[in-house]
Amino acid sequence: MPSANENARLAALTNRARSAFQRAYGDAPTHVVAAPGRVNLIGEHTDYNDGFVLPAAIDRHALMAIGPRNDNQVRIVAVDLNARSSFSLDQIDHDQANRWSNYQRGVAWALQGEGLALRGMNMVLTSDVPVGSGLSSSAAVEVATAFAFQVLSEFELNGVTRALLCQKAENDFVGMNCGIMDQFIVSLGSRGHALLIDCRSLDYQAVPVPEGCSVVICDTKKRRGLVDSEYNLRRQECERGAEILGVRALRDVTLEQLVQRRGAMDALTYRRCHHVVSENERTQQAVSALRNNDVAKFGKLMDASHVSLRDDYQVSCLELDEMVAAAWAQPGTLGSRMTGAGFGGCTVSLVESAGTDAFVQDVARTYQSRTGLRPEVYVCQAEDGVGLVSLTN
Ligand code: GLA
Repeated sequence: MPSANENARLAALTNRARSAFQRAYGDAPTHVVAAPGRVNLIGEHTDYNDGFVLPAAIDRHALMAIGPRNDNQVRIVAVDLNARSSFSLDQIDHDQANRWSNYQRGVAWALQGEGLALRGMNMVLTSDVPVGSGLSSSAAVEVATAFAFQVLSEFELNGVTRALLCQKAENDFVGMNCGIMDQFIVSLGSRGHALLIDCRSLDYQAVPVPEGCSVVICDTKKRRGLVDSEYNLRRQECERGAEILGVRALRDVTLEQLVQRRGAMDALTYRRCHHVVSENERTQQAVSALRNNDVAKFGKLMDASHVSLRDDYQVSCLELDEMVAAAWAQPGTLGSRMTGAGFGGCTVSLVESAGTDAFVQDVARTYQSRTGLRPEVYVCQAEDGVGLVSLTN
């Protein structure tokens, strides 16, 4: 975690959270927790098929200023929404009017379900992870909340268990049936690295982000629609495919085996399986390419991932396709694809350093002229996972 002094953006967020805390609770916070958003470089819609993913934590954060209470209340102020919510740790209910607080509630519920004794807390939340853009703003809030309880209630939780409990909160309390990728990388990200995560064994390896190129995020500003229902539908289609193939999960099939069994399933199920099985292969090839410093190969695999998500998995949309097309046409682009669940949100591109400034300007201009939407394009840094911001003043 960079100290707030080193990093102007984090410093501004920290000051905002600290002064809001002072105003709300009449006291200074004891700690400030920062949890990053994430971008997935490759390995999309593979996590819930027990497959491989390669995300990195990014330099956008959900920030929580926190302090302990002497009762069982959790009080939350969401600065960006100008809203408040509170709940008792004795009886954790959903808040239908302040749905944003169901992430914190769900995490408290999941931690308690694990037998952990939680202490009441005052919290102020602010975040610069854009909401609904596919950069895991909600996983950042979940993991920051788990970490906040860890710090104030003084219990140990390793990063993998923390990720699993946050996923449980999202699946069983919030009601979104996501895989493990987002909570895992937010919990365990490593500065300058992406993580290759095996979503079955939960083993992971840090892979350095290559030198001489930049990871550029382009936010289409098309907010994700349809995502929950279509996401659940894709999961079901994958489960049907695995059942027909007689395997525990699509992770257990090679592309060759899938092609041989094509006649056993309907065309739609085949396309869904084709995406997942080929994406798992691409992700492993992409890691080998990075280890061999072959960024050109890595970029080509990103491009192929986009085509597969667009045509076989059908989770792209016009705006994502336009942004990717603009990136592909730009000199210096090594590869570009949609990232996250799809149906809006962001793309991720790998761009040669020398061409990065031109990329940022030209791709934004082209996209805007084609869609009428004003995108946000920024070069991101791979960051550490959740941690405390040092408060030196
Ligand atoms: C969302 C989910 C993740 C993952 C991606 C698609 O971000 O939360 O678990 O399935 O979509 O790769």
